Parts: sequence; C-alpha cells; structure tokens
Amino acid sequence: MAIDKKMEAAFNDQINKEYYSEYLYLAMKTIFAELNLPGFVNWFNIQVQEERAHAEGMYEYVLERGGYVELFAIDKPEVKGSTPLEVFKQVLEHEQYVTSRINAVYDVAEEVKDRAAMLFLNWYVKEQVEEEASVGDVLAKLEMIGDDKQGLLALDKELSARVFNPPVIG
Ligand code: FEO
Repeated sequence: MAIDKKMEAAFNDQINKEYYSEYLYLAMKTIFAELNLPGFVNWFNIQVQEERAHAEGMYEYVLERGGYVELFAIDKPEVKGSTPLEVFKQVLEHEQYVTSRINAVYDVAEEVKDRAAMLFLNWYVKEQVEEEASVGDVLAKLEMIGDDKQGLLALDKELSARVFNPPVIG
C-alpha cells in the first residue's frame, strides 16, 4: 500500500529535523574543541553520526514505502551557551523537543492508520528514551562537578570511551 501523503510529509519534516540535530551537534562540538576537551568532542562526534543515521533510517523507509523524499534547507544551528553545563542543558532541551516531534509523527501514523509506520517508529520512540537518559546523565554529572576542573577532566576521560555502534533501525 502506498504511503499516505500526510504520513510522507511528516517523515520528510522529521528527516529535516534529524539533519538539523546533526548540524546542531556539529556546531556544539567546536565549543569543546576550543576548550580542549577531547572526550566531549568524541561524544559529539558520535552524536553527529547517530543523528545522521536517524535521518537516513527514515529516508530509506520512505523510499521503501514507495514515497518521495523531499529534502529541505537545514536551519543555521543556534548554540545558546558557551560552557559545558549550558551546552548540555540545551542538548537535553533539544532531545526533549525531538521526542515531542517523533511523537507527532507517530500521531500521524495513528491518524492515517499506518500500522507499518507505527511499528517502524517504535524504534525511534525507544531511542528517544535512551537519548534523553544518556544526555541527562552527562548533565547531572556536570551539575555535580560545578567549577571543579579535576571533575570536568575525569568526565572528559569517561566520555572519550563512547563508541559509535551503527544502529539497526526499524
Ligand atoms: Fe535523532 Fe538525538 O535524536
């Protein structure tokens, strides 16, 4: 069954938001490079790859359903803070926003009774729980660390261990 046009539009909008997320994290990465925190840089490198995978997963899904992928302009990323704590507050806010948008895509799938899309989107719903939890964990540690430079360096070391595991979506 061909994909519903409203469903297709919701996926195309979300593909753009995932690419925006990639762009936003790419912009945030430079702040940590300037601060000489390679572990944080590594964390953002992986985040960037994950966002691209999220976008590509939807891209391939729309094609698989016989739909049309329309790519839109990616907005200039707006990084609001300049300290690790400020940046991670924004990361959490952003992921919460993405969760709300994934839920909105799911709402469309329910509305048009697209059960295949709902099953596909389950992966994204679960992924957002993980995204918010992992970002929340870093944020909580940064709040504990405060102005303690040794604590910040210890967290940087911890984040250098993060590796990219290409997600199997759907
Ligand atoms: Fe694609 Fe970070 O959610």
